[in-house]
Amino acid sequence: MKITVIGSGYVGLVSGICFAKLGHDVICVDNNKSKISQLKSGIIPIFEPGLAELLKAVSDSGKISFTTDLKEALKTSNTIFIAVGTPQDENGAADLSYVFAVAQEIAQSSDSYKLIITKSTVPAGTGAQIKTLVQKTNPTLEFSVASNPEFLREGAAISDFTNPDRIVVGVEDDKSRAIFADIYASFPTEKIIYSDIITAELIKYASNSFLATKISFINEMADLCEIVGGDIKSLSNAMGLDSRIGEKFLNPGPGFGGSCFPKDIMAIVNVAKENKVSLSLIESVITSNNDRKIKMADKISAALNGEINGKKITLLGLAFKANTDDIRYSPATVIAEELAKKGAEVFAHDPEAIENSKKELAAFENIHFCETVDTAIQDTDLIVIATEWKEYRDLDWEKVKALTHSRKIVDLRNLFDAIQMKESGFDYFYIGGKA
Ligand code: NAD
Ligand code: UGA
Repeated sequence: MKITVIGSGYVGLVSGICFAKLGHDVICVDNNKSKISQLKSGIIPIFEPGLAELLKAVSDSGKISFTTDLKEALKTSNTIFIAVGTPQDENGAADLSYVFAVAQEIAQSSDSYKLIITKSTVPAGTGAQIKTLVQKTNPTLEFSVASNPEFLREGAAISDFTNPDRIVVGVEDDKSRAIFADIYASFPTEKIIYSDIITAELIKYASNSFLATKISFINEMADLCEIVGGDIKSLSNAMGLDSRIGEKFLNPGPGFGGSCFPKDIMAIVNVAKENKVSLSLIESVITSNNDRKIKMADKISAALNGEINGKKITLLGLAFKANTDDIRYSPATVIAEELAKKGAEVFAHDPEAIENSKKELAAFENIHFCETVDTAIQDTDLIVIATEWKEYRDLDWEKVKALTHSRKIVDLRNLFDAIQMKESGFDYFYIGGKA
């Protein structure tokens, strides 16, 4: 099949490359010239494990091409995925201006049947709005609108895309459904869930909201454990063994971040408000998660008995989670800012996210960026682990002891065994307890 993907960011690029790997002929479009020229030279503008190798394989087989010329790309294919950003606007709603701009351009530049699919995360009712817009712009165009939300995670994007738990497809006619059957012909049919367009749009937001709620739930249980003396690891393990609950997304941490959960839960609350529906549960998740990031800075401060001014603090991890260079809504960024505001000298390290963080935290002279973990740890008063990179899991503790007199560690990702850390001579603070 010939497929056009508009927007070559995380989702568009991964989808395009994976569609090509499935054997489709793919054209990826982006209006960012430098991104497209990098991609044409085989350079991936984002950090995503395995993507560069996969791009090379599909480029060598001639299955993928890149362009900034949408009109040209539309000539060769009738199956069009929109994968542009839907960032949060100033009111917390999803900003659909990029999606609508692309839909209008498709309408203006097409003269034969098009299936216009939103892969971007869009609020309930967006498909209907696109339909009206396209009809108004090009009244004679034959087209269908569909929703095919994406559930991949950054850092695990290729395996999530190629081995999904389910593929959600919102359609309103048989022609669109038949095209989707071809697109996803290599996936087991039982994995493809068809619905109407509005329900498909809602499934995406409901899924992200549920996962965010699950994380906030376990984070609050960790707080309770910390005060009453319970053990969060045993608690989450035992809860997760109940198949109705499930073991995934029960890891307590510094709060969820990333480009999706924070913006999507704001957007669904916004849609509910517009429709006079109360989503008080999700609203409380937003508050709980925002408060948590500040609470983490307080926890770090408490580990230094509140004497934080002038102290050297090592911050290991800046990305919102491991295996990405993405720092959007990263708890580590908020923590770095809070510590810096309290007068600490913050020495931050991250294997991939330093360049992005330098821009974000440029206002703080007392946040220093270190190229190596050793430099960040040298003579520190306290080590904070904010992101669960493997490099930090594999830390050589004897080396750490040689680099600094301090034995204080605040582990916001619960990477280590508390008893072992204590036996190794560390003053080890973690989420949901202290050894
Ligand atoms: P992104 O910002 O990485 O990429 C969007 C791309 O669209 C950019 O490269 C931008 O230049 C391009 N673009 C914008 N306007 C354009 C236009 N008129 N023509 C051509 N290209 C244009 O965004 P992303 O992270 O890929 O997210 C895209 C959508 O997918 C969002 O709705 C997001 O919520 C959703 N989503 C993201 C993830 C994820 O892990 N990042 C996962 C699932 C769903
Ligand atoms: C998330 C969803 O997992 C994807 O299914 C979805 O497609 C995507 O959002 C999206 O809509 O864009 P992503 O943001 O890449 O993917 O990352 P996750 O792995 O879900 O992690 C999100 C945040 O939750 C991170 O800050 C992570 O550290 C945190 N988290 C996750 C926890 O604190 N505990 C957990 O148990 C799991």
